[in-house]
Amino acid sequence: MKHMVKLSNGVSVPALGQGTWFIGDRAGTRKDEIEALRTGIEAGMTLIDTAEMYGSGRSESLVGEAIAPYGREELFLVSKVLPGNANRRNMEKALDASMKRMGVEYLDLYLYHWRGATPLPETVECLIKLKEKGKIREWGVSNFDIDDMEELFGIDGGNGCLVNQDLYHAASRGIEWNLLPWMRERKVALMAYCPLAQAGSLRDGLFASKALEEIAKKHGCSLTQVLLAWDIRDGNTIAIPKAGRKEHSLLNAGADEILLDEEDLAKIDEAFAPPARKMPLDVQ
Ligand SMILES: NC(=O)c1ccc[n+]([C@@H]2O[C@H](COP(=O)([O-])OP(=O)(O)OC[C@H]3O[C@@H](n4cnc5c(N)ncnc54)[C@H](OP(=O)(O)O)[C@@H]3O)[C@@H](O)[C@H]2O)c1
Repeated sequence: MKHMVKLSNGVSVPALGQGTWFIGDRAGTRKDEIEALRTGIEAGMTLIDTAEMYGSGRSESLVGEAIAPYGREELFLVSKVLPGNANRRNMEKALDASMKRMGVEYLDLYLYHWRGATPLPETVECLIKLKEKGKIREWGVSNFDIDDMEELFGIDGGNGCLVNQDLYHAASRGIEWNLLPWMRERKVALMAYCPLAQAGSLRDGLFASKALEEIAKKHGCSLTQVLLAWDIRDGNTIAIPKAGRKEHSLLNAGADEILLDEEDLAKIDEAFAPPARKMPLDVQ
């Protein structure tokens, strides 16, 4: 993988990783999904994003099976705690259960999936404690907009947040208005979810975009590769496309080879304008 993102703790991770939502849900697709994840790992997408929520633990279990042949240090494993578990009573138990399903003894990154009722200082205190215990190397958040990030950074230890995972693709650019610049300034990396807009289903016409098709033709690549190359263009963003088939994993890893130029970026801006005002955070 050519494109790496250097996180503020000095660790470099591949700019293209692998998502796992809906992976592991059906027995009939299990073999293909394991093959897809392994193909992705071997093509350099060694960062894997999962969550206790996905299939109520089934995705984590499938990830555990897929990664079994690889050395732990070769991988960067991310999981997420549900809001209902992001408290003193439950967080460590939830993490232990996630790690057990994945067959690992630590996570590289543990994210607070989205904000719930627990006061933020309590959640941060729990995350810091798990880091001190060595069960997680780093922690971060997900689905946090600028107000949430400001509140987080106002809390003791809150500025230890390494990553914010938010929805980001060419047809959903609202976070460029003020959240992304805010994160850049504080060296909080963006982990972009739904980078393929769920195979285009989140935006009518995205996969039929003339602009994207023309750029794909120019680079001799697929439209999905243009979307991924666009997502990681600033060197500070990690995109985590999910693929349940190895053909897709190979295509996604190959997006690393595509370098969009000024002309391509201008064309995308014309087709999918950057925000002209604050937009509500797009979530899935
Ligand atoms: N933090 C959060 O709240 C949150 C929310 C949503 C998602 N996420 C994370 O982000 C990951 C990615 O988001 P997502 O899974 O919702 O959507 P996505 O990655 O944008 O899209 C996944 C869809 O795209 C298809 N696909 C993958 N590669 C393709 C290719 N090269 N060509 C054509 N189609 C392709 C997949 O099909 P196949 O499966 O058939 O290959 C699947 O249907 C998730 O899996 C999850 O890990 C986090």
